Amino acid sequence: MALIAPSILAANFVNLERDVRAMEEAGAQILHVDVMDGHFAPNLTIGLPVIKGLKGCTSLLLDVHLMISNPEQTAEAYIDAGADYLSVHYETVNHLDRLVERIREQGAQPGVVLNPHTPVLVLEEILAKCHHVLVMSVNPGFGGQKFIVTSFQKVRKLKSLIDSQDLNVKIEIDGGIDLHNTEEAVRSGVDIVVAGSAIFHAERPKEVLLQMQRIADEAAILKKDDAISL
Ligand code: DX5
Ligand code: ZN
Repeated sequence: MALIAPSILAANFVNLERDVRAMEEAGAQILHVDVMDGHFAPNLTIGLPVIKGLKGCTSLLLDVHLMISNPEQTAEAYIDAGADYLSVHYETVNHLDRLVERIREQGAQPGVVLNPHTPVLVLEEILAKCHHVLVMSVNPGFGGQKFIVTSFQKVRKLKSLIDSQDLNVKIEIDGGIDLHNTEEAVRSGVDIVVAGSAIFHAERPKEVLLQMQRIADEAAILKKDDAISL
């Protein structure tokens, strides 16, 4: 089953609790939280205090996506603040093997994020230590960007790499996802579908989340059929 992770980057930050409650009511299980530092990513978003606040007000899993330089220095603080999943960019870390291990030891599920230009093969030696891999389907920094179409091909390559090592690493996709491309994302192998503006900028966010979840559930069944007929 694939999960839809609403990205609060597109929510109303002045009414964040209201928007998070709406996602809970619509049955979401996980919330995507983008941390940007204005250095690695050309935008500044939220940090530890907001994550702590979210942890205190919702039981949804917090899927924290660090788009910051030097995550080795602060990863632990994000886990203490409440990150359940903690994803760091391959492009920002010198000693990724050590950091992924540390994240797991400190109690969060470690994930590695790949920018659109970074090939999946760079993860070959570290895949077994990851809980998930996040494929960026836009360049980091902003919500509402256009989906990069070659991302599905990249997801399929990643899925083959995971299967070739007989692993159960989850695949997450982030950027430009909406009701039109959710099905192909899941059929390509995505387990966690991040969606920001498609949900929060809609007139009825709860309905869009439900609809997206329905599409993802149906696509997961079709994916199984694809595999059987191979
Ligand atoms: C982009 C962020 C995304 C963003 C996605 O750098 O990592 O999580 O919220 O937004 P949409 O779904 O609007 O493309
Ligand atoms: Zn993100």
